[in-house]
Amino acid sequence: MNLPAQMRCVEITEAGGPDVLVQSSRAVPVPHHGEILIEVAYAGVNRPDALQRLGAYRPPPGASDLPGLECSGRVAALGSGVTQWAVGDAVCALLPGGGYADYATCPAEHALPVPVGLDLKSAACLPETCFTVWSNVVMRGGLKAGERFLVHGGSSGIGTTAIQIAKALGARVFTTAGSPEKCAACEGLGASAINYKTGDFVDILRAEGGADLILDMVGGSYIARNIKAMADDGRMVMIAFLEGPKAEINFAQVMMRRLLITGSTLRPQSDAAKAEIAAQLRAHVWPMISAGKLRVIHDSAYPLAQAAMAHTRMESSQHIGKIVLEVAGG
Ligand SMILES: NC(=O)c1ccc[n+]([C@@H]2O[C@H](COP(=O)([O-])OP(=O)(O)OC[C@H]3O[C@@H](n4cnc5c(N)ncnc54)[C@H](OP(=O)(O)O)[C@@H]3O)[C@@H](O)[C@H]2O)c1
Repeated sequence: MNLPAQMRCVEITEAGGPDVLVQSSRAVPVPHHGEILIEVAYAGVNRPDALQRLGAYRPPPGASDLPGLECSGRVAALGSGVTQWAVGDAVCALLPGGGYADYATCPAEHALPVPVGLDLKSAACLPETCFTVWSNVVMRGGLKAGERFLVHGGSSGIGTTAIQIAKALGARVFTTAGSPEKCAACEGLGASAINYKTGDFVDILRAEGGADLILDMVGGSYIARNIKAMADDGRMVMIAFLEGPKAEINFAQVMMRRLLITGSTLRPQSDAAKAEIAAQLRAHVWPMISAGKLRVIHDSAYPLAQAAMAHTRMESSQHIGKIVLEVAGG
């Protein structure tokens, strides 16, 4: 494949609002040993991209400073030692950064085939949410069939994915969302939805016997309320703190009711840890997608040059599901 020397990309010119996302031009990256170069078709937009733009989520050492944690596209070049992919393969991939560009590199083991029956636009929405949900809900949180699972922010990219994976695993799924429209979308995916502006998830979960597992992205006042909503021996996994990371909680409850509190962020984990998650996704989640048990919920798509509008949309919290950038031709 003939590669150009330069590519379009979107840079974060300084920490700030969506306007600091500016289209620019850079050299096409070269894949190192064990990496692939992807000609990006679509790039997923995620809340951590906005945190990076605000200066609150630094790229790990060695990662591109360009935003973009996931993409779909075609393999354009192979680094030395890569044997599992060929130039031209359709892939979607978890990126260490750099997805808002015509080309991006990643370790070959962090790419997955586009699932059977899915187009590139939908495939771009899978990696960041699937890696995050599977590693936190299943590998860390240990969700099992028959358990009661509560995920906050059910209409988010993470939430819509978590609801469907948990349902496919046989859990009873509860979720919170901030409007009747968002609740209806979550119900359509099989969750019992609680409008947190009009109802109390603590009362509802306690009446059901308590949550065996909670996936929380809100933090703040939700931390103490989650503890009240948990069943004995329940687990809580923290993945973000939209309402802040500090809380006053009664740790006697943790002791008396044998609760487990944990959490993780995906991006700083080792390449080997991400490769293990990718292998589990391929074995357990890709078949769910091909079987129609996990659908991508699309909110909107913007051309690469309008990345600022995509961030404005995401930060408005009006969206339901995933936002993508159309890169090829966008
Ligand atoms: N730890 C990790 O590795 C990791 C990886 C990826 C993402 N994340 C985090 O996971 C979260 C979801 O990511 P995403 O890309 O799916 O984002 P997203 O689509 O923008 O979702 C955020 C959701 O949070 C809800 N929300 C916002 N503020 C809230 C508040 N104060 N109280 C309750 N709900 C609130 C919003 O829904 P309502 O309108 O219903 O409130 C919105 O749907 C983000 O916080 C992100 O940073 C963590």
